[in-house]
Amino acid sequence: MNGPGQDDGPGASPAALSADPVLRVRGLRTVFPGEEGTITVVDGVDVAVGRGETLAVVGESGSGKTMTFLSVLGLLPPGGRVTEGEVWFDGRDLARLDPAAMRAIRGAQIAMVFQDPLTSLNPVFTVGDQLVTVIRAHGSVGKAEARARAVELLERVHIPHPGERIDAYPHQLSGGMRQRVLIAMAIAFGPKILIADEPTTALDVTVQAQILELLEELKAEFGMGMVLISHDLGLVATHADRVAVMYAGRVVETSPVSRGFGQSRHPYTRSLYRSIPRLDTEPESRLSAIEGQPPDLARLPEGCAFEPRCFLGRGRDDCRRVRPALEPVGEDGSFSACPHWRRLPMSPEGDGARPEAGGGTPA
Ligand SMILES: Nc1ncnc2c1ncn2[C@@H]1O[C@H](COP(=O)(O)OP(=O)(O)O)[C@@H](O)[C@H]1O
Ligand SMILES: [Mg+2]
Repeated sequence: MNGPGQDDGPGASPAALSADPVLRVRGLRTVFPGEEGTITVVDGVDVAVGRGETLAVVGESGSGKTMTFLSVLGLLPPGGRVTEGEVWFDGRDLARLDPAAMRAIRGAQIAMVFQDPLTSLNPVFTVGDQLVTVIRAHGSVGKAEARARAVELLERVHIPHPGERIDAYPHQLSGGMRQRVLIAMAIAFGPKILIADEPTTALDVTVQAQILELLEELKAEFGMGMVLISHDLGLVATHADRVAVMYAGRVVETSPVSRGFGQSRHPYTRSLYRSIPRLDTEPESRLSAIEGQPPDLARLPEGCAFEPRCFLGRGRDDCRRVRPALEPVGEDGSFSACPHWRRLPMSPEGDGARPEAGGGTPA
């Protein structure tokens, strides 16, 4: 059996894909105490982000996307604990860093932007006060200088009239403007990695596009690596370089986005892809969420966690017994945790009849 903690050696791990990753997570495991024992919310996750690269992390709600990166930042909610794994950043394993050293890195070199700017901003202080606090937390800067820097940052994220907006309270700004303020805080020190957790989920489509455009612009300017956590495959397809698909706390597939989700090599990714509402299909068939529910992490099956919902493996004995590990598939740096991926149709749309020629790597 392939245990999640096994070392599959350099070259075989998806974490080793980027030649010189800025951030490399290996075998990360995070647990919470549950009513009937420990619940593993992140289960042996390997991911890497290169300089100037955007890694998208996708998966249904509850699959462990946020917990993975809160673990990376040492920001787990009470009760949460990283029990295994390494988080390599700038030559250091953050999983072994003391809290003070972690605080110095967090916010300055690794920054995070969350989904809901209203809960991330304090309603009783102006955005300027909050920016100044952030700026002064990581350096000995006087108040006036910090304020001038705050105006610059607001300008940098294209907030109009930054000299006036700096004195606004969060509720006086639109959702998009608030998200820009959070991004301004995140880039204050030119981080090497920006983790954006559903940064546009709360925003309408036009504003979403503007925020993503801003993130791309900043990524290019600072040469940052970016982690884009999202449940929106359409957005990922246009804004990410690589994608890691999570299910029940594990990465079940990772591949270059250029591969196309219709060619993905895991049935879960195919199902996610099919559940995207499409304009070219009949209105009544547009909404096809994946059948069944994500598994209860306290009662994970012995075998593949996706088996009960899987169009390839449901009811298969081997799928029920053996929990599959991520294995390399093909030559494009893709990895899949489905041993039956060769049975997936490989048409451009992912649901056609043409079987894949050659069949990829031998098992
Ligand atoms: N504070 C918490 N205590 C215990 N379990 C939690 C807590 N927050 C989230 N979880 C559990 O961790 C799992 C992963 O959650 P999360 O990483 O937030 O998922 P995602 O970001 O993919 O939607 C979920 O099953 C969720 O129920
Ligand atoms: Mg989340």
